[in-house]
Amino acid sequence: MNYKDSLHNPIFEVISQASKALNVESYVIGGFVRDLILKRDFKKDIDIVAVGSGIKLALKVSELLPKKPKVQVFKTYGTAMLRFEDTEIEFVGARKESYTHDSRNPIVENGTLEDDQNRRDFTINALALSLSESNFGELLDPFGGLVDIENKILKTPLDPDITFSDDPLRMLRAIRFATQLNFEIEVNSFQSITNNAERIKIISGERIVDELNKILSAAKPSIGFLLLYKTGLLDIILPELTALNQVEEIEGHTHKNNFYHTLEVVDNICPNTDDVWLRWAALLHDIGKAPTKKFNKKQGWTFHGHEFLGGKMVKKLFERLHMPLNQKMKFVQKMVMMSSRPIVLSQDIVTDSAVRRLVFDAGEDVEDLMTLCEADITTKNPNKFKKYHHNFVIVRKKIVEVEERDSVRNFQPPISGEQIMTIFNLKPSREIGILKEAVKEAILEGEIPNEYEAAYNFVLKRAEKLGLNPIEN
Ligand code: CTP
Repeated sequence: MNYKDSLHNPIFEVISQASKALNVESYVIGGFVRDLILKRDFKKDIDIVAVGSGIKLALKVSELLPKKPKVQVFKTYGTAMLRFEDTEIEFVGARKESYTHDSRNPIVENGTLEDDQNRRDFTINALALSLSESNFGELLDPFGGLVDIENKILKTPLDPDITFSDDPLRMLRAIRFATQLNFEIEVNSFQSITNNAERIKIISGERIVDELNKILSAAKPSIGFLLLYKTGLLDIILPELTALNQVEEIEGHTHKNNFYHTLEVVDNICPNTDDVWLRWAALLHDIGKAPTKKFNKKQGWTFHGHEFLGGKMVKKLFERLHMPLNQKMKFVQKMVMMSSRPIVLSQDIVTDSAVRRLVFDAGEDVEDLMTLCEADITTKNPNKFKKYHHNFVIVRKKIVEVEERDSVRNFQPPISGEQIMTIFNLKPSREIGILKEAVKEAILEGEIPNEYEAAYNFVLKRAEKLGLNPIEN
């Protein structure tokens, strides 16, 4: 099989010439070749293997390029990188690697192309195209990666126990590729992930989250989360989610399975947002339900306060996985804490004041919150489904109307504490807080518009009740 005509990027010609000049074989390998065969978008990073020194090859390539791009050399790893137009080209010498059981640091030796292909994660990622002049574009596929691509199979080139033990992150990569590409994990590889799941514990939170983000960014993340669940990985990485997969029955009362519900919500939200943080919010919106679950005879199953507890759990989870604790975490936390608010609205008659309060509390994130809550409608009762969605249309319309009138999204009080002090000749005191709060409440309730004049008159009336009189002008 020859892919010469698919290697459009002129860099491949240059690498070929550099290889010839140095008298080494070179190959493009890994994700670039996989994606080229799968006809996915071209990757912005290209991996080159030299049977010899990758660093020397990179330096030669730079020398042959008109702009002589800078070569970054990573001596410890024996790799080098240069940029050509908008791609990053990474060069490495072919290696034979073996790992000791309790360390991720490999013992590296020089090897042949096949040694190098052997130590890669999946057959579909071990495909190489020759860049040598004599067989430019020829596919080197010692493990049947091409057939695996055709059959949509993820399989390790070696005994999976060796491949996964060498780098346990590969277990997550298998699931991530299965989700992104809609491939099946071959049965032995799958079994091996299940057997080795515990080994994921030696991988850093950052690397795990990278893969989780890729799973969440796929078109149907539930594929990945179900695989994570079935292999036992989810219980190690995100036990908050597996805890939701318990349905209890007491006196004939059951509750919905919140794990499968969550996965449905995540899939539902994907067509409506590419924001991975909003997708995280969908994934975590119900995590407070396991620890708050209670049964009582009158109400049946309840999850009182699950949103609040869930919000607190978000922070702990982010800390544990070394995720950012900045605005992103705060956003996810806010979404989880507010996740029931629009639902409550949509089950009843939608009043202006309830919508105004929602906009006030959610601020800039109100549209994202609506997107989350629409995805949260997983009822199989078509009448309820229709009703909730219809009410959400009304809520969204009212959000716009209420905003036009009262701009409560980034609420600025129409009358300030200083102004109140001047009107009544007051020193800083409790009364000012009471009056300001009363103005805010009146606006949210729709009693007065968010304007100075109206707020001024309102304050005069309320102040009277507090025994306050305005000073004469
Ligand atoms: N690789 C591996 N084991 C890993 C990571 C990477 O064997 N834990 C190999 C694979 O051959 C992979 C190549 O290194 O194709 C490049 O890795 P990377 O850029 O991380 O992934 P890609 O396969 O290129 O795919 P993506 O960009 O989607 O992550």
